Amino acid sequence: MNAIVVVDQNWGIGKDGGLLVHLPGDLKYYKEKTIGNHIITGRKTLESFPGGKPLPGRENIVLTRDPDYAKDGCVICHTVEEVQDVVKDCDPETVFVAGGAEIYKEFFQLCDVFYVTKIDAAFEADRYFPDLDAMDLEIAWESELQEEKGITYRFLKYVRKDNR
Ligand SMILES: NC(=O)c1ccc[n+]([C@@H]2O[C@H](COP(=O)([O-])OP(=O)(O)OC[C@H]3O[C@@H](n4cnc5c(N)ncnc54)[C@H](OP(=O)(O)O)[C@@H]3O)[C@@H](O)[C@H]2O)c1
Repeated sequence: MNAIVVVDQNWGIGKDGGLLVHLPGDLKYYKEKTIGNHIITGRKTLESFPGGKPLPGRENIVLTRDPDYAKDGCVICHTVEEVQDVVKDCDPETVFVAGGAEIYKEFFQLCDVFYVTKIDAAFEADRYFPDLDAMDLEIAWESELQEEKGITYRFLKYVRKDNR
């Protein structure tokens, strides 16, 4: 399966329950990648979406430890194994681990492709993604430099070397 994430220079991903910065070009890229596919999020990330609602046009698979948690339009799971069972017949290329920090960490070893939007700036953050540059991964693709709101960033695709 894949992970998809936007990070700052320090691999920060969030602060106070929200994103570090809103970049419309990145949101468009995120939509292009995930639309029609399956996204796996934690309950906190789901609640950070507009109106606390699932993202339309995608299967929203949500993890919570609360046995009574319910949300219209979501597939609720209570363990990583339950999620694996839900996606077991899906094409792995259509499955995206989409945060937040807890979920990225728990699914990290199950992901072999990482779609990373890397922002050339540092923000105050309280949630982080593992530093992929400190690991033995290959950058399989890198976009041109993007610029929005005076902020520059790139889209990168990291892959595990045994999964080229
Ligand atoms: N930059 C990005 O690309 C990006 C993407 C997504 C999110 N974010 C940011 O990340 C932050 C949220 O991340 P977070 O780490 O605080 O929360 P999170 O990972 O979204 O959700 C954590 C919750 O998921 C549930 N959970 C976690 N592990 C579980 C397991 N093994 N089994 C069952 N349920 C499990 C628990 O829900 P219960 O408490 O209900 O039990 C837990 O409180 C926000 O700031 C958000 O904006 C950034």
